[in-house]
Amino acid sequence: MPELIEKRKSLNKQVKFQDLQNKALKAKLTKLQAMANLGKVSAIVAHEINNILMPLGNYAQVALNNPDDKELTTKALQKTIKNSARASEILESIMAMVNGETAEVRKCRLLNLVNEVFSCIGRDLSKDKIKLLLDIPEDMSIDVVPVQFQQVIMNLALNAIEAMKPIGGTLSLKAAAGSDEIEVRVADTGCGIEQENLEKIFRPFFTTKTVDSPAGRTGSGLGLAFCIEIIEAHNGSITVQSQPGKGTEFIIELPKK
Ligand SMILES: Nc1ncnc2c1ncn2[C@@H]1O[C@H](COP(=O)(O)OP(=O)(O)O)[C@@H](O)[C@H]1O
Ligand SMILES: [Mg+2]
Repeated sequence: MPELIEKRKSLNKQVKFQDLQNKALKAKLTKLQAMANLGKVSAIVAHEINNILMPLGNYAQVALNNPDDKELTTKALQKTIKNSARASEILESIMAMVNGETAEVRKCRLLNLVNEVFSCIGRDLSKDKIKLLLDIPEDMSIDVVPVQFQQVIMNLALNAIEAMKPIGGTLSLKAAAGSDEIEVRVADTGCGIEQENLEKIFRPFFTTKTVDSPAGRTGSGLGLAFCIEIIEAHNGSITVQSQPGKGTEFIIELPKK
């Protein structure tokens, strides 16, 4: 009998010890997850800001190279100011998302949001042999956090532009209103996406871009991961259709208020 009691005591001790170890492991896991999230967020912030900084540097260079062309210099400097203001807006909005705050949803004119994005991209699309087609009703409005929705459009547009390098093609943005939703389609006539990759493209860090690819840069694989996060935060959905060699279309659906 005493033996049994001893055994039980020792088993109890073991269970307690395991319990403590479990707790310690769980705490470690939570910390690791928080760090992984932080890593993802930092990478997204860096990626989004970089999208804005690149044209910003170009504008400043244009101003510097043409001191005698007053009109051009003024235009370049105005764009520099606009883009730097946008960079801080983006930072603010990303930090708000990280902190779980919901930034303010506003009724916005879709065409204005889209036009602003293209002025921020600051690239002469015709130089890349790309034709831009906008088919968006002038009076159509959507309920979104403007800077976040614009980041989605910017990421989709930049991907489309890169997918059409170096041949060029057509980038089209179309919008239509259904009874309960607004549908925005961003389509290109670029390289398309291999069937096996279609389900992977929204994953963080999935990229097919290397320095040797036509995009001419290594991808971060964060653009679409960010897009899906934003659209889902708006209670919407984003899907993709693509044919390798023919082109790609992203379809965003957002609920009407
Ligand atoms: N319009 C597109 N045409 C072809 N492939 C695309 C397109 N948009 C996204 N992709 C594919 O999805 C991947 C992930 O895109 P994204 O998350 O923006 O990261 P990144 O652009 O840094 O690679 C790309 O590397 C590419 O393979
Ligand atoms: Mg991208």
